[in-house]
Amino acid sequence: MDVIQKFQELLKKLFQFEVSDLDFGIYRVLNYKRDQIEKFIQEDLKNKVEDAFAKHKDERLTDINQRFESAKEKVNQNLGPTAFTPTGDLKEEFKDTPVGKDFLLVKAQKEEAEAIDEIKLQVFNDLYNFFSRYYEEGDFVPHYRYSIKGHKYAIPYNGEEVKLYWVNSEQYYTKTGVLFRDYTFRANDYKVIFRIVSAKEELASNKATRERFFVLDDEQPLTIENKALIIRFQYRELTEDEVKDYEVGGGSNAAKQEKINQRSYDEVLKRAKDPTLGGFLGKEYKNGNPLLLYHISRFSAKNTKDYFIHKNLKKFLSEQLDYFIKAEVLDIETLEKERFLDKHTTRAKVVREIGEDIIDFLSQIEDFQKRLWEKKKFVLKTEYVITTDRVPEEFYEEIWANKLQRKEWGDLGFEIPKTKEQLRDTKLPIDTKYFTLEFKEKLLEKLTENADLDDLLDGVLIKSENWQALNTILPRFKEKVQTIYIDPPFNKEQDADYLYNVKYKDSTWMSMLENRLRLARELLNEKGSIFVRCDYNGDWLVRPLMNEIFGEENFRNEIVINRKRQAIGTPNKFEVENELLFLFSKGEKFLKRDIFRPRSLVDMKWTNFLKQEERRPPERVFLGKTLYPPKGQHFALVQKKVDKLLKEHYLRLKCRSCTAIYYWDKEDSRELFSKKLRSFKDKFKYFDISADSKVFGVTSLDRCLSCGADDWQVEYLTSEEIKIGDNWKDIVSYDNRWGFKTENSEILLQRVIESTSNEGDLVMDFFLGSGTTTAVAHKLGRKWIGVEMGEHFWTVILPRMKKVLTYDKSGISKERDVKEKYNKNTAGGFFKYQVIEQYEDALDNIELKENQKARELFKDQYLLKYFLDYETRESSYFLNIDQLKNPFAYQLKVNLEELGEPEEIIVDIPETFNYLLGLKVKKVKARNNGGKYWLVLGEKEQKEIAVVWREYNDNWTDEDWERDREFIIKEIEPWAPHIVYVNGQSVLTPKIGNHTVEIRYIEPEFKILMR
Ligand SMILES: C[S@@+](CC[C@H](N)C(=O)[O-])C[C@H]1O[C@@H](n2cnc3c(N)ncnc32)[C@H](O)[C@@H]1O
Repeated sequence: MDVIQKFQELLKKLFQFEVSDLDFGIYRVLNYKRDQIEKFIQEDLKNKVEDAFAKHKDERLTDINQRFESAKEKVNQNLGPTAFTPTGDLKEEFKDTPVGKDFLLVKAQKEEAEAIDEIKLQVFNDLYNFFSRYYEEGDFVPHYRYSIKGHKYAIPYNGEEVKLYWVNSEQYYTKTGVLFRDYTFRANDYKVIFRIVSAKEELASNKATRERFFVLDDEQPLTIENKALIIRFQYRELTEDEVKDYEVGGGSNAAKQEKINQRSYDEVLKRAKDPTLGGFLGKEYKNGNPLLLYHISRFSAKNTKDYFIHKNLKKFLSEQLDYFIKAEVLDIETLEKERFLDKHTTRAKVVREIGEDIIDFLSQIEDFQKRLWEKKKFVLKTEYVITTDRVPEEFYEEIWANKLQRKEWGDLGFEIPKTKEQLRDTKLPIDTKYFTLEFKEKLLEKLTENADLDDLLDGVLIKSENWQALNTILPRFKEKVQTIYIDPPFNKEQDADYLYNVKYKDSTWMSMLENRLRLARELLNEKGSIFVRCDYNGDWLVRPLMNEIFGEENFRNEIVINRKRQAIGTPNKFEVENELLFLFSKGEKFLKRDIFRPRSLVDMKWTNFLKQEERRPPERVFLGKTLYPPKGQHFALVQKKVDKLLKEHYLRLKCRSCTAIYYWDKEDSRELFSKKLRSFKDKFKYFDISADSKVFGVTSLDRCLSCGADDWQVEYLTSEEIKIGDNWKDIVSYDNRWGFKTENSEILLQRVIESTSNEGDLVMDFFLGSGTTTAVAHKLGRKWIGVEMGEHFWTVILPRMKKVLTYDKSGISKERDVKEKYNKNTAGGFFKYQVIEQYEDALDNIELKENQKARELFKDQYLLKYFLDYETRESSYFLNIDQLKNPFAYQLKVNLEELGEPEEIIVDIPETFNYLLGLKVKKVKARNNGGKYWLVLGEKEQKEIAVVWREYNDNWTDEDWERDREFIIKEIEPWAPHIVYVNGQSVLTPKIGNHTVEIRYIEPEFKILMR
């Protein structure tokens, strides 16, 4: 392959030609432009190089021709025209003359300039060398090159004492779809499910590849049950035998995976007994591929490609190109060998020109993905869960008649009351998803008649990838959160619960955390703090990362907690018994509440009752005896407290002479007191009393009843509780009540929440898992936000939180300090749950529309720099203003549950806008006036804001607009807002009843805020 071809092949890889049959993500977008990109690689680039050289050659040649002509003229003048041979060469005898020498030098330069073609090839070679460095299997790996011998790479570094750096530190980790677990599609009347299972045996030393591949499960590759075909895959390294068997000794990983996919496909078809099913799976589907093979390829590609988006690829590559040219194209060793430097200057110029073109194109694609990633996402759906005690009675009839709701109560194990009137006491959770939209809207209006909606809500649950959720709700909850607890997937190799790039496992994990922690920090209020759970796999990364994000000075503790008990034994090292919580605060105003645990008997101590320094009056009366402290000291408490503590048996007297012990007792009798001792419930107060101790219960004393001495020591019992430090190993940290593998214990979360927040504060967890954090927050009277992307959002979290609202007796509910506040009588609650648009949805469904005007305007530069921006402007994912004419019917294509064919659904535009504005919602109401109106009253920065949504159309007459105006005024006047937002157009003027408002139009602001 010649150099040009080699470079063109590389470009095809960079532009993902290898996987041209993929129809998701960025591949789909690139495929759409495939012909143009191909033309760019095959023709335009080559022409560009030619042109560039032609240009440089022309420039140089004009200059050199002039110099040549003048050198020739000089020879003519000095030596006469006979100095030249008839062919124009200088005769031998003149070669050493000064003008002869000059002439020869310029002549050689001229020839060199004319022979520039060989340098062209070098240009392609340079470009190949440069671009191949950063590209690995679908991602850019931003290594900073540094070509000093022995050091291949550099890190950007400003002379800090210690510097944290990881390869993917300037990238977003985006591998967060719900795709990892199950991938589903339909084949005729069958549902086909691809499921990832773990390998039975460790490959250990038998691994022949470092990379992992999707291979069929060898134990049970498929099962068919009730029209569901489950195909099992393992995701792992290959053994040597497998490498031979699959014939994947060489080639790219993508090519290897393709070969394996073909085998998996053949194998499944062989085993799928039902001939109709087999027929469907094997029928041609897309791009010449049969249905099953198409999906296997799609599934493996979705799970293995595109881990990262660079936050500023253009800057990175341009700087690197600059360095590359200086260090490798124009390096001093090459230059020293050359007689004429010109050609290398040309080479460098062309490498820069072409290199920048390609960088422009690559960064256009990367920046587009970044924009889509960073754009705020639409709220797809909002539902509410509220317990019946909080629902006005006028709704009971409809609730009572709702069969689906009653069925859910049964499924959740609630006792269903006999009559609808009992709904008030039973506090059953109703989920608005079982009711009509009208019911939901009426209920919300009624609830907010005398109170504000966001104040009434106890919590919010969000089903979404967490970066997207945090980024979208940021304007609303910025600096509002008091405590964040997260328990992200651990940085494990085996059994890791998230996808990572095998070559950069630690770095992938770092980016995953870093991206999310940065947003978390913005959500915390100035007194807030965050706990991050991890184990030895990740602790060495979490601490420096948090130092960087939260500031070293805000490191508070590294708390030791228990690991799950595993009696497996760990070879070659001591058994691992700990996990960790890193606690960082937002700043110095950090709220810390001391927490206590009961002191165990071994920790109990009777100590003396003295403190340093003298105080007045010095004496105290103990059991009728007036005692004085030793010189320079004083008794620790005032007389009133002394009397109280004596009665509670936290104080006692001891005879220094015979060690007899005296407690206060109203019976004043040794025998009775000794008997009582055994039955007293506070045994810890007598922990050091044994059968042969001399113990007396008295009301007052004179001399020791045992030895007659009068020499007393006052003893004070340290409290039965002990302040908790950074060792939390006295409690379990995992539990298993909700059938979730990594479920944390409620008692652990109780400590987390109580130590850093007060009742009513907002607590958040965005790796929610089974919902422990939100459950505990609710039980402890905190407000809460939980984010989770897994399907267990529906099967574990929602049912759990519904039970918690009604009353969940498990977990911490029976703890002494909890049950007073959270019990059957005090339970009840109200929360909303939402589903948010995902990055993959947007990327998979975005539509491109040719933009002829822009194309003509930008010409060559259009494909390189502008097409993505111009062709996606109208897309619904970036907000399609036209669709907002009916804000109640705005549609997007999304994958709501699992993968498969996306569905077109109506999204929740008003809720999306509330988040974008950062509006605290107070009141809502739905109205009809020839069309639907949805009115929201909220508050932002102490301003009352009304948002008016309604359907309108271009055919409205002046009367329609006028009617609309009057209606809006009538509805919002009682709210007396400062600002009124309205969608579309209107004839509203700032005069609303008796006061003046500011009118703003929704669309332009929506579009800006969405970015
Ligand atoms: C270790 S579990 C948390 C367990 C939880 N503390 C409990 O008590 O059940 C981690 C959770 O984070 C979720 N997760 C991982 N990456 C996520 C992401 N990017 N966005 C949202 N959830 C994510 C996983 O689905 C999993 O449920």
